[in-house]
Amino acid sequence: MEYEICLEPSGIRFMADEHQNIVEAAKQHGISIKHGCASGSCGDCKGTILSGASEQGPFMPLLLLPTERAAGMAILCKLYPRSDLRLHAEVVRKDTWKTEITQLTPLAWNVLELRLRPERPYPYRTGQYARIAIPGRPDQWRSYSMATPPGTTGELVFHIRELPGGIFSQWLFHTAQRGDALILGAAQGEFALSPDNDRDMLCIAAGTGLAPIEAMIQESIALGRTRPIHLFYGARKRADFYHLEELTRWSQQYPHITITSTLSDRQDASWTGAHRLLPTVAASGHWKDHEVYLCGSPGMIEAAIDLLLSHDVRHDHIHFDAFAPNG
Ligand SMILES: Cc1cc2nc3c(=O)[nH]c(=O)nc-3n(C[C@H](O)[C@H](O)[C@H](O)COP(=O)(O)OP(=O)(O)OC[C@H]3O[C@@H](n4cnc5c(N)ncnc54)[C@H](O)[C@@H]3O)c2cc1C
Ligand code: FES
Repeated sequence: MEYEICLEPSGIRFMADEHQNIVEAAKQHGISIKHGCASGSCGDCKGTILSGASEQGPFMPLLLLPTERAAGMAILCKLYPRSDLRLHAEVVRKDTWKTEITQLTPLAWNVLELRLRPERPYPYRTGQYARIAIPGRPDQWRSYSMATPPGTTGELVFHIRELPGGIFSQWLFHTAQRGDALILGAAQGEFALSPDNDRDMLCIAAGTGLAPIEAMIQESIALGRTRPIHLFYGARKRADFYHLEELTRWSQQYPHITITSTLSDRQDASWTGAHRLLPTVAASGHWKDHEVYLCGSPGMIEAAIDLLLSHDVRHDHIHFDAFAPNG
């Protein structure tokens, strides 16, 4: 069964099958609704149902607060039409930026630092991510968080993990070279430092989830802020860690920054630090009055949210970016 979807305020109309989510159906008609993961993990496709019937599929907890649900908000990449629908939804600007790879630097056995020079200034806020078109597959994009605040060097910096069989990461690790061109879409995402409060910050990062958190810490240092920051940084194996020296240097240089690195691998006898990310967070302090920033895999984030809510952290103090596979 097909239904007509009308997007406001653009007035764009298209048909969607009952088995197609709104983001996917729009894409089939050449319309790009703002989205990130396309799998219910990031919240970037939030819209509002103005009229009509629909079915909401499952998505990551906390993407919609109860008040947002009550106001008719929905996660459009998991929303299926059950009648004609009128939706408030952001249609993405078609802007793209041509960039050139200036540097590819190994950070760990499976993580590369990618530096790109955009042909014109690329506006973004610290904590946001860029969508990068896969070379040779212009209809396929992957999302990567900027690892430095804007304006640091004129270059865009990313930390990218190699995934077995991953289309973009395999190209980057094994084919890409300095001078290669990459196309970026406009920066996206709501994961950002809230400027309107001075609550102590609890940051939890796993793997390359360190990228946007590092950018936030760098920004806070550059602005001369002394708001206490406690970063817990987790990896599976010791060889997976990167930037440990930089993080240690920051914690030595700035008394308001505390870093705890944790390892899941209990077999590594040479590791004298903490084991297991979330149990270490739980055992290390009272987080009830902290502003919390989480970044890493969707599984880690879901578990962290459960833990924090059970420790009485308010849900509107929890901010997260889930590095979900492209849906
Ligand atoms: C908002 C956002 C920001 C992100 N920022 C970063 C970042 O800064 N650094 C970074 O390294 N990644 C980041 N990611 C993940 C990234 O977008 C890609 O999903 C990842 O790099 C895989 O792309 P690929 O083309 O190599 O693999 P694909 O061809 O997409 O997938 C290959 C295989 O790997 C699996 N897979 C894909 N992605 C993941 C994943 N994230 N975890 C586990 N398995 C996966 C797929 O299911 C598939 O089986 C982010 C994701 C989102 C949504
Ligand atoms: S695009 Fe819908 S939740 Fe990420």
